[in-house]
Amino acid sequence: MAERILIVEDEETLRTSLKRVLSKENYDVAGSGSAEDALEMLGKSAYDLVITDIILPGINGIELLRKIREKSHEQVVIVITAYGSLETAVEAIRAGAYDYVVKPIIHEEIKQIVKNALKQRALQIENTLLKKQIERHYDFGRIIGENSSMQKILAEVKKIADARSNVLLLGETGTGKELIARAVHFNSNRADKPFIPINCSAIPENLLESELFGHVRGAFTGAVTSKKGLFEEANYGTVFLDEIGDLSMALQSKLLRALEDREIRPVGGTQSVKVDLRFIAATNKDIDISVKEGRFREDLFYRINVIAIKLPPLRERKGDIKLLIRHFIQKYSKELGKTVSDIDEAALKYLIAYHWPGNIRELQNIIERAILISEDGIIRAEHLPEGIKAEESFPCRTLADKLSIEDYTKAFIQKYQHEFNEQQLADMLGITRKSLWEKRKRWGINKG
Ligand SMILES: Nc1ncnc2c1ncn2[C@@H]1O[C@H](COP(=O)(O)OP(=O)(O)OP(=O)(O)O)[C@@H](O)[C@H]1O
Ligand SMILES: [Mg+2]
Repeated sequence: MAERILIVEDEETLRTSLKRVLSKENYDVAGSGSAEDALEMLGKSAYDLVITDIILPGINGIELLRKIREKSHEQVVIVITAYGSLETAVEAIRAGAYDYVVKPIIHEEIKQIVKNALKQRALQIENTLLKKQIERHYDFGRIIGENSSMQKILAEVKKIADARSNVLLLGETGTGKELIARAVHFNSNRADKPFIPINCSAIPENLLESELFGHVRGAFTGAVTSKKGLFEEANYGTVFLDEIGDLSMALQSKLLRALEDREIRPVGGTQSVKVDLRFIAATNKDIDISVKEGRFREDLFYRINVIAIKLPPLRERKGDIKLLIRHFIQKYSKELGKTVSDIDEAALKYLIAYHWPGNIRELQNIIERAILISEDGIIRAEHLPEGIKAEESFPCRTLADKLSIEDYTKAFIQKYQHEFNEQQLADMLGITRKSLWEKRKRWGINKG
């Protein structure tokens, strides 16, 4: 189909001659004598390219360009400037014109510029489409899980992706919270806008505020220039606030304000900036305990906890272990340039019996390591770390699928409390020390 061009030019002779030149190149060309008419025509149907003179009777060409930009970022516009008015040409480019031609117009030149502009536009469209397709495909394809709770989560991700509602992802370390956060973003209508992950516990507290909200020049020692914050960088996209449970009280109230007013104020600044963001937060801590103990603001908790998704630990979906192993074998054989294609029965048995405190990340690491050291294309028990094979006597080996989380946790604490310290035990269970202490008290498990 012929590409459609709209020429906005009040000098009739020039308009007609441009129309003739471009029609000969097999474009579908329309003309208009004023910006007002052009806007009406653009409102009614789509054009691949707009060519506009700058000097027009009513609204001028630059204003027209600005009005077009308000509605569409993609519309390609070329402006025509009078000889010797380079400044207006520069202004037009700043306002978002693709290119400019200088009067008197040389036919060969305009033909070339139009051709380039349309080629660029086609590429742009193709790229966005391709990017979307890849991301959509890629992300769901990468999330492995036939277990029913995983299936429910994936169905929910698809359902809620397009909403702007904030999402809270809960689950132990390595259960796939970040993977799900990306899946939400890349399946949403924000997919071609930024996805910005921010690890709240990795950035020092005194830097975090200016990282998130930006700062103005001179806001603090060392702020020699002003800097945009990550929230502004992410505008129209998604912000992933990882380890949100570690956010300080001061930043919690700033974040709350940003969520409520949908605007942010840079450090040291007096003016706020409007932002359109979707927030996805994640934590592997018991955030409700933090709320109860006053370490996490309740109002902020309700703001981010609009849609909560809890990722199950791997030991509660052992049926997926085999699938995950297949997936990681494929992935790492390729990445590491090895031809490992299988795992033997004995090794598989160990992996299924193990309790996986580090969840999928731990499984992934173990498979990667095994592939590296395996020499004959098969993963065997000897390629697995000793710690995994020492699991035998733990009840989950035989009972895992029948044990409730409570019973499992109880058994786990009883069995391992002499071998590991409080923090290690809590980490392995994916709970806080405080919650470990509470569970002990509740179940009457004494340390001694
Ligand atoms: N269902 C899954 N299918 C395939 N790979 C997965 C799945 N879940 C997690 N992974 C992989 O496991 C690793 C850990 O996942 P991720 O980083 O999302 O965990 P997390 O919950 O954010 O952990 P942490 O709390 O420690 O940050 C990643 O490399 C991820 O790609
Ligand atoms: Mg994570």
